Amino acid sequence: MTRPQPTDRITPAELPARIWQELQRATVDRHHEWRTPVLASVDADGLPQARTVVLRRAEADTRALTCFTDARSPKCAELQARPQAALVFWSQRLGWQLRITARAEVDTGGPAVQAAWERVRQSAAASDYLMPRAPGAPLDGAASAPASDQHHLAIVRLQVSGIDWLELHRDGHRRGRWDGSSTDRQAPAGWVWLTP
Ligand SMILES: Cc1cc2nc3c(=O)[nH]c(=O)nc-3n(C[C@H](O)[C@H](O)[C@H](O)COP(=O)(O)O)c2cc1C
Repeated sequence: MTRPQPTDRITPAELPARIWQELQRATVDRHHEWRTPVLASVDADGLPQARTVVLRRAEADTRALTCFTDARSPKCAELQARPQAALVFWSQRLGWQLRITARAEVDTGGPAVQAAWERVRQSAAASDYLMPRAPGAPLDGAASAPASDQHHLAIVRLQVSGIDWLELHRDGHRRGRWDGSSTDRQAPAGWVWLTP
């Protein structure tokens, strides 16, 4: 587990703020390795489903992460039926893995979706949300469906309930876990330190 390392090691006291700072940076820096986490959901058969998404927003104050998807995609139906979600991030530069548990809320209409669409429609990603066929629909050889001007953008808001942070470092790996529901008095602000 040897990786290129940052020179200075973060202290446990600094860690929570730094994690949220890196998440926020990833939403604005296309080259940040945390920009494209893996989002896992549970399907109707109780089986895990995982895929890459783009992290669009990270709010430390409310502990919420946001991504966009097509409202017709299987992940939308999965998260609406079972909101338990997980996200995995890895950064070689930081030597940090984050495993996040969250509760998902899917927003498929209304002012927030419309405001997001106004921004997305001016970007290269706009066509992703204007596909006439639903994501995963078979290409059955029929004539291509006519282009649509109806967008299918949905906002997935992930309310973070737990964070498992793992740092790979030549001077010793470290691991910490934050449990948003913890009432443990020995774990200030919900963080406990674990054997990596
Ligand atoms: C780098 C990368 C970024 C992606 N970003 C998104 C995204 O932000 N939203 C999304 O719905 N799908 C995104 N995808 C596609 C998903 O990984 C997935 O293939 C698709 O959404 C269908 O997933 P589902 O069938 O589980 O709903 C991305 C794929 C890659 C490789």
